[in-house]
Amino acid sequence: MSTQLTPILTKFWDHPQSWTMATYEDNGGYRALRSALEMDPVDLVQVTKDSGLRGRGGAGFPTGMKWGFLPPHDGGPRYLVVNADESEPGTCKDIPLMMAAPHFLIEGAIITSFAIGSDTAFIYVRGETAHVYRRLLRAVEEAYAAGYLGKDILGTGYDLDIVVHAGAGAYICGEETALLDSLEGRRGQPRLKPPFPAVAGLYARPTVVNNVESIASVPLIVGKGAEWFSDMGTEKSQGFGIFSLSGHVKHPGQYEAPLGITLRELIEMAGGMRDPNHPLKFWTPGGSSTPIFTDRHLDVPLDFESVAAHGSMLGTRALQIFDDTVSVVRAVTRWNDFYMHESCGKCTPCREGTYWLAQILHRIEEGRGTSQDIDMLVDICDNILGRAFCALGDGATSPITSAVQYFREEFEAGCHTPASELFPPAASTLF
Ligand code: NAI
Repeated sequence: MSTQLTPILTKFWDHPQSWTMATYEDNGGYRALRSALEMDPVDLVQVTKDSGLRGRGGAGFPTGMKWGFLPPHDGGPRYLVVNADESEPGTCKDIPLMMAAPHFLIEGAIITSFAIGSDTAFIYVRGETAHVYRRLLRAVEEAYAAGYLGKDILGTGYDLDIVVHAGAGAYICGEETALLDSLEGRRGQPRLKPPFPAVAGLYARPTVVNNVESIASVPLIVGKGAEWFSDMGTEKSQGFGIFSLSGHVKHPGQYEAPLGITLRELIEMAGGMRDPNHPLKFWTPGGSSTPIFTDRHLDVPLDFESVAAHGSMLGTRALQIFDDTVSVVRAVTRWNDFYMHESCGKCTPCREGTYWLAQILHRIEEGRGTSQDIDMLVDICDNILGRAFCALGDGATSPITSAVQYFREEFEAGCHTPASELFPPAASTLF
């Protein structure tokens, strides 16, 4: 396995007009679409399956397999919905991708819609990102003007419309069924699964919901072949991905590399830790809803299987890196405040549980914790995990239980000393 950086989706981000159709076409854009429209849709699904592409939105579900779950055509509509509601703390890859090179997504959405037999696709963008919404609208306009969207695309008889829709800024709307409710005009709250969207999704019709980076990878797979993609990465986590490094490294940013690269290698590429006197203390492999890792995990290959084998999840490859100036108690308290605020309120374990956790965490952070607090914290987490209606509740508990596992002594110190004394905020740029 190669561990070199692999600029593919990020290849021309530094071009002064990277987001235009002209730049995209100069770099080979829309050639894959021409080949795809000459293929049998069944073969397009097969190429995607053969490539080994797994969902880049966090769960890592095989993309081609998901497309294959759609029931046979019954003459009614079926939809592609792109989940562009990127909101997980630390996750910041889809937004730069859509800003810098939106046509990867547009071309991918056209090929995917053709493969699954859809004539309407939706891109659901996070509400706060008006700049992304505007950029996508412009890219879609360019694609209509070039004949890549609309009626009789490139003279093939295939019709497709893409609708760009901005949400209203709720984290829960990144959960695919809450997103569908929101797109239908309802309050965004998760639906019971099954039925999965593949069977009954938007307007109760068969729907494929895929993440931005997954769809943006499709033109490359179709253009360069399944084997080109599957040759990268590891045996079960194939291909490349964008790794978002934030926090205490010299050069935070997006680093595209084959899956299986390690944090040690990525930190080196990011110029090292921001201050050599302050070593790595803890980090998130896949955003704040995955169990944290420590300096002991620097050499864990960042692929789905290896990260899971070490007790966490690859998730969205959102690597938030914290050095020893940061209080882990303060970090998990802030994350839990986020999940408490964003809980949609539908289920009791998440709605009440995150609120109870917040009360205990704030007590500990302020040095007012009691001797029972740590066990109660873990007990509440155990009672949320697996009992919440969707992944939000489970995700809220992951950083807390893992932080107690690795840094119990810091939580114990919270029974007598405020985190602000142990870790003066001025020493850190984070939390
Ligand atoms: P999931 O594992 O329940 O589902 C993954 C995908 O596979 C879904 O599209 C689902 O419909 C499909 N699927 C699974 N089993 C299926 C079946 N039997 N038939 C048809 N389709 C099936 O995971 P979920 O809840 O969609 O996502 C959780 C992940 O989201 C977390 O692991 C987390 O990393 C990530 N996440 C990402 C965020 C972001 O901002 N990108 C925000 C929050 C969480």
